[in-house]
Amino acid sequence: MYGHRYDQMQYRRSGKSGLKLPVLSLGLWHNFGDTGNYENMKQMCFTAFSNGITHFDLANNYGPEPGSAEKNFGRIYKEILKPYRDELLISTKAGYLMWEGPYGDWGSRKYLIASLDQSLQRMGLDYVDIFYHHRPDPETPLEETMGALDSVVKSGKALYVGLSNYNGPQMEKAAALLDDLKCPFVINQNRYSIFDRTIEQNGLKDSAAAAGKGVITFSPLAQGLLTNRYLHGVPEDSRIRTDGRFLKEQNLTEEKLARIKALNEIAMARGESLAQMALKWILKDDVITSVLIGASKPSQILENLKVLDSQPFTGEELAKIDEYSL
Ligand SMILES: NC(=O)c1ccc[n+]([C@@H]2O[C@H](COP(=O)([O-])OP(=O)(O)OC[C@H]3O[C@@H](n4cnc5c(N)ncnc54)[C@H](OP(=O)(O)O)[C@@H]3O)[C@@H](O)[C@H]2O)c1
Repeated sequence: MYGHRYDQMQYRRSGKSGLKLPVLSLGLWHNFGDTGNYENMKQMCFTAFSNGITHFDLANNYGPEPGSAEKNFGRIYKEILKPYRDELLISTKAGYLMWEGPYGDWGSRKYLIASLDQSLQRMGLDYVDIFYHHRPDPETPLEETMGALDSVVKSGKALYVGLSNYNGPQMEKAAALLDDLKCPFVINQNRYSIFDRTIEQNGLKDSAAAAGKGVITFSPLAQGLLTNRYLHGVPEDSRIRTDGRFLKEQNLTEEKLARIKALNEIAMARGESLAQMALKWILKDDVITSVLIGASKPSQILENLKVLDSQPFTGEELAKIDEYSL
C-alpha cells in the first residue's frame, strides 16, 4: 500500500541513542483538529508515510478542540496505519492546559500520568514511542516531573522520553535526573528556524550536542512565513486566515515581508523553493535530528520532501541568509 517508502528518506540517530528519526517529521498541531477536513488529514498521513516519514508528532492539547487531533489520528491509525505500528514513531506530550482544575496543566506526576492515559485512549494505542514534557514547570520539583516520565517508561506506556521548550541549563538538570533513573531521554523538541534562533543563544543546541541528545525542531518554516505562501498577499486558505490563533496578520510586517522576499531570492538563485532552503538550513547541522513540519495539504509535504535533493550551502549563501534572519 505504501510502495517504496524507504527509497529516498534519510534517517538520523537521535543523539547517541539507538533511535533513528526521518530528517522530515510530520506534526499534527494544526489542520488535524475537528475544524479540519478528515479526508485531507488522512491523505496527509498517507503521503507522509508513503515517503518514509515514519514520525508523527502530537500533543494532548492539539485541536481545536483539545484532544481532537489525537482522536482524528487514532481514526487514521485504525483505518490505514495500524498494520505498520512497528514502522511508526508516534509521540505525544503533556505540559499545557488540558482540563479544568489543578491537575490538568504543567508538570505534576498526577497530570502527566493521567494525561498520557487519556492520549493512549484517544489514539487507540498501547504505548507511544516518545512522551514529552511539553514545557518546563517553574513550580513543580523537577525530580517529580522527571520521575513521572520515568514511570511511564517503566510501566510500558512510552518507549522513550523527551523534553520540549527547555533551555540548555534546564535540559542539563533534567538530563542528570533522568540519567540517574536510567530513563531513556533521547530528544529535545524546540522551535528553530531562520526566523527564530533562540536555541543557539539559550544553550540548548550546545548542551544537546554535548550530552548526546537529539534535537527535533518545530515551526521550521515559521508557520508558513518561510515559504512562498505570503509573497503576494495573504491567501484565504493560509494559516493566518483559516486559524489565526498563533500566526496572526500582524506578524507579517512590511519589514518581515522584505526579509522573506530577500530569502526567497537566495533560494531561487540556488534553484529551489524558500521552504526547501529553510528546511535545508536547519538540517545543515548534525546536531539536528529531524525537522518537524506542519502542512495543510499533501502537496506541501511533497514539496518539502525536496529538501532531500537540496545541495550544501556555500559560505557566501550562509552569510547572506544571516543578514536576513532574525
Ligand atoms: N513542542 C512545542 O511546543 C510545539 C510548538 C509548535 C509546534 N510543534 C510541533 O511542530 C509541528 C510543526 O509546526 P508548524 O506547523 O508551526 O510548522 P511549519 O512547518 O513551520 O509551518 C507549517 C505551515 O506552513 C505552511 N507550509 C508548509 N509547507 C509549505 C510549503 N511547501 N509551501 C507553502 N506553505 C507551506 C502551511 O501553512 P498553511 O496552513 O498556510 O498552508 C503549514 O500549515 C507541529 O505540528 C507540532 O507537531 C511543537
